[in-house]
Amino acid sequence: MYNGVTVTQFIIEEQRRLPGATGDFTSLLNDIVTACKVISNGVNKGALIGVLGTAESENVQGETQKKMDIIANDVVIKSNEWAGHLAAMASEEEDDIYPIPARYPKGKYLLLFDPLDGSSNIDVNISVGTIFSILRCPDGVTEPTKEDFLQPGTEQVCAGYALYGPSTLLVLTTGNGVNGFTLDRDIGEFILTNPNMTVPADTREFAINTSNQRFWEEPVQRYVDECLAGKEGARGEEFNMRWVASMVAEVHRILTRGGIFMYPKDTKDPSKAGKLRLMYEANPMSMIVEQAGGASSTGRERIMEMKPNDIHQRVPVILGSKNEVERVVSYHKD
Ligand code: AHG
Ligand code: MN
Ligand code: MN
Repeated sequence: MYNGVTVTQFIIEEQRRLPGATGDFTSLLNDIVTACKVISNGVNKGALIGVLGTAESENVQGETQKKMDIIANDVVIKSNEWAGHLAAMASEEEDDIYPIPARYPKGKYLLLFDPLDGSSNIDVNISVGTIFSILRCPDGVTEPTKEDFLQPGTEQVCAGYALYGPSTLLVLTTGNGVNGFTLDRDIGEFILTNPNMTVPADTREFAINTSNQRFWEEPVQRYVDECLAGKEGARGEEFNMRWVASMVAEVHRILTRGGIFMYPKDTKDPSKAGKLRLMYEANPMSMIVEQAGGASSTGRERIMEMKPNDIHQRVPVILGSKNEVERVVSYHKD
C-alpha cells in the first residue's frame, strides 16, 4: 500500500544534501503547499460555494479582480504569515509589499506570488494556477522594504506553480532540476509523478495571442509568419498553435511536450513594456523553464538577469524550447 514520494519527503531529502539547512525552507514550502491545496479545493467547488464571478474592485494594475483572485490572495497570506519563515510577501493583488504582522516572528525569506494566474478563465472552467517565487531577505534586514525585493531572477531560491486543471499539479525547482507532483485528494498529499521534467529543444507548437498581431514588433511578426507559412515557408515544416490564456497551463504544456510561449513587447499601450509581471510571473516561470533545459528571454535579454525596478514591473516574455527561443532572439538581433 505504499503511496509514493510526497512533496514534503522530496523536499526534506533534497535539503538534507545542503550543508547548514535548518528545515526552515522545508517548513515554508509546506505552508505554500497547504495554500495551494486550499485554493485547489475552492476552485474545484466553484459555483457550489459561490466563489466564481467578479468582485467589485480593481488591483494596483487596474485589472478587475475576480472573487477568487481575492480569496486565493488571502489564502496564501494567511497560510504563510504566521510561521516565522518569511520577512515579507509581495502579491499581484497587493499594491504594496505585505509585511509580516508584528504578532508573528519574522524569518529570512521573501515570498512573491500570483495567487490566481489566468483568472479570466475561472468562470468558464478552464485551468488556472498559482505561481510563486522565493528570494532571500538581504542579510541584516528585519523590516524589508520594496527595494529588498528588487533582486534579479537568478537570485531565486525556489520557484514553482500549482496548476488547477483536470488534476491539481505542483511543479517545483530549487535550482536542481524540475519535479512535478499530483494531488491525491483522497489522502491530501502531492505525490511525485513527474520526476526530472525536461523541455524538448525543438518544437512545432507556438502560443501567442494573435489578436495583438498588429501591435507586435518585426522579429515576432517574422517568427509567427514563418510558422504560419508551414511546409511551403522558410521553416519547411507545419506548426500548430495554442492559446489558453493561463500562463501556468501554457508553461505546463511546454514542460510536457515542448513549445514556445510569447507575450512579447507590443505597441498596444506604449506605457507598458509587456503584459506579464517580472517578479511573480516571468521570473519563476523562467527559472522553471531554464532548469528544465529550456530558455527564456525578453527577445533582447535573459529575463532572469534583469534588475527589477518595481515589484509590479511588466516584461516581454518569450520562453520554452531552447532552439525556438534562440531563433526569436536572433531575429531581434537581425
Ligand atoms: P492573471 O490572471 O494573473 O492576470 O494573468 C493572466 C496572464 C497570463 O496567465 C496569460 O498568459 C495572459 O495574461 C493572457 O492574456 P490575454 O488575455 O491578453 O490573452
Ligand atoms: Mn498571472
Ligand atoms: Mn493573477
